[in-house]
Amino acid sequence: MTDVKTKAPLLKEQKEYTELLKDILYIRYNNRQPKAFVRTYGCQQNVADSEKLKGMLESMGCELTEVKEEADIIIFNTCAVREHAEDRVFGNVGALKALKRQKPSLLIALCGCMMEQEHIAEKIYKSFPYVGLVFGTHVIHRFPELIYNAVTTGKRHIERGYDDGKIYEGLPIHRDGSFKGWLPIMYGCDNFCTYCIVPHVRGRERSRNSCEIIKEAEMMVQSGYKEITLLGQNVNSYGKGLDEEISFAMLLKKVSDIKGDFWLSFMTSHPKDASRELIDVIAENPKISRHLHLPFQCGSDRILKLMNRRYTVEKYLDIVNYAKSRIPDVSLTSDVIVGFPGETYEDFRQTLELIKKVEFTSLFTFIYSPRVGTPAAKLDDPYTHEQKAEWMGELLKTQEEISARRTASMVGKNYRVLVEEQAREGVLNARTHGGVVVEVNAPSELIGTFQNAEITEARNFILRGRIV
Ligand code: SAH
Ligand code: SF4
Ligand code: F3S
Repeated sequence: MTDVKTKAPLLKEQKEYTELLKDILYIRYNNRQPKAFVRTYGCQQNVADSEKLKGMLESMGCELTEVKEEADIIIFNTCAVREHAEDRVFGNVGALKALKRQKPSLLIALCGCMMEQEHIAEKIYKSFPYVGLVFGTHVIHRFPELIYNAVTTGKRHIERGYDDGKIYEGLPIHRDGSFKGWLPIMYGCDNFCTYCIVPHVRGRERSRNSCEIIKEAEMMVQSGYKEITLLGQNVNSYGKGLDEEISFAMLLKKVSDIKGDFWLSFMTSHPKDASRELIDVIAENPKISRHLHLPFQCGSDRILKLMNRRYTVEKYLDIVNYAKSRIPDVSLTSDVIVGFPGETYEDFRQTLELIKKVEFTSLFTFIYSPRVGTPAAKLDDPYTHEQKAEWMGELLKTQEEISARRTASMVGKNYRVLVEEQAREGVLNARTHGGVVVEVNAPSELIGTFQNAEITEARNFILRGRIV
């Protein structure tokens, strides 16, 4: 729960460090504005944290850069969800050695989910002596103090493992996007799916007060944001532990009631807590995204139990079918894990069945990756990576056929789209309310605006359309 009383003095102290750092950093970097580079790995939760780190760096007088070679401060905000994510970080930190040798005043800091695992933080600290600062996900609000200590003492430092269960409001934010923005509504996770490291590195679930969320959303709408995405590991359990009586569906309704032309999205929904009330709110509020990301992970009840997901395939299909009946144009996406320890081909076949029944727009697919300290990592895992990769191939082929069918069915129809970015010369990517990307020929001035597009063609899962 938010503890309003204790947060204020702490943040005041951080503001004082920030003020001191303006001069200290300016002088340290030869009387010029220091440049800071922040790279983010992992999910939107990390992206949102990085936006706070960037906001604090700017308050310290830093200029943000996209070029790490010209940076004076380099921050890697890391992800621990799969081995592959961690390997990328190790590789990229190793590559910083030469940079630090050329530029001894360079300050390298590593933070994020990987640093909340003791064995990883220690490995980083030992293997990369040029990393000056390591800090975990629970001390982001103390970033100015940590930077202050690093530059004034010149000593290396690790700060991690302090989940105080609190939320620190009022940190400055530098948003990456000017019309699409992230808005965390809760932090942490209490679900402890047996394969997942997130609850171990992000701590206990806690919700922000709804008035803080509404205030932030109102500010975003006023400054021209066209899409706001509410973030949490399990948004459906929003509100637990707060003094106010509020559910996620109620919050969604409140945010969508803010005046202005914007789309409201959210992620991620845990199927065990996805309620009919939530589906009704989506159905009745045209601002809310027609896209539901509802990770099922596996289509076998036996494996779902071992995963500690706390729903069955039947319950999953029940909420999916209700969503389809209430929101006729609903676009469903999901995360799937292939090769959970002990998963047999028969279990996997049930995953294929589920995919065919639901007809997802697209899927995020992962081969199971054992995570130190999770219960699943201790289970027997008799199938080889090659076998799992073969199953994955089969899954991708099944989904490709479904995606192709779904996109083909959109041809000839008109959709309201948000124009997002340049795809290539003269071609822009736009996105429907269901989260489907459409390529349109249009001038770049349209980026960040809503348009109507007619879908003219579906080729290799890429939709083409024209602005009408
Ligand atoms: N809170 C979200 C998911 C966050 S992690 C939810 O519950 O839906 C994002 C996705 O990574 C998960 O949905 C899962 O599919 C995948 N994932 C998590 N741990 C994994 C692991 N150990 N191996 C492979 N995939 C994993
Ligand atoms: Fe991980 Fe499960 Fe929490 Fe999602 S709900 S973050 S998969 S433990
Ligand atoms: Fe990765 Fe942490 Fe997100 S482990 S997926 S960055 S919560």
